[in-house]
Amino acid sequence: MLGEELFKKKCRQCHKTTEQVLIGPGLKDVTKRRSIEWIEKWLIDPKKILNSDDPIAQELKKNFKRDMPKIPEMSIDENRKDIIEYLKTL
Ligand code: HEC
Repeated sequence: MLGEELFKKKCRQCHKTTEQVLIGPGLKDVTKRRSIEWIEKWLIDPKKILNSDDPIAQELKKNFKRDMPKIPEMSIDENRKDIIEYLKTL
């Protein structure tokens, strides 16, 4: 699965697929706690959301020391679609 490959290359160093925290939160059930629209926005440019008054981002900021970087591959629609499909399986 394409999304899984992308995840291994670009996300796994910071995210587990369980509930366990690594550098970022575990991503199990993330598509249940966040809307797909929010995840889309987040993946395109995390910094932009972190610097806004978005309440979810403000909460995440409090709980995690590091900020998620902007990942260039995530500006490509097709890649985002694949990753989100994969996140739905977690
Ligand atoms: C260098 C570490 C790092 C990488 C690489 C990374 N993230 Fe993150 N991610 C974080 C951190 C840290 C947070 C918590 C928010 C913050 O403080 O930036 C986060 C938050 C998230 C969230 C929100 C989770 C929630 O509970 O609301 C999602 C979704 C997410 N990341 C998906 C991804 C995906 C998909 C990739 C790969 C394309 C990825 N991340 C790559 C560090 C990373």
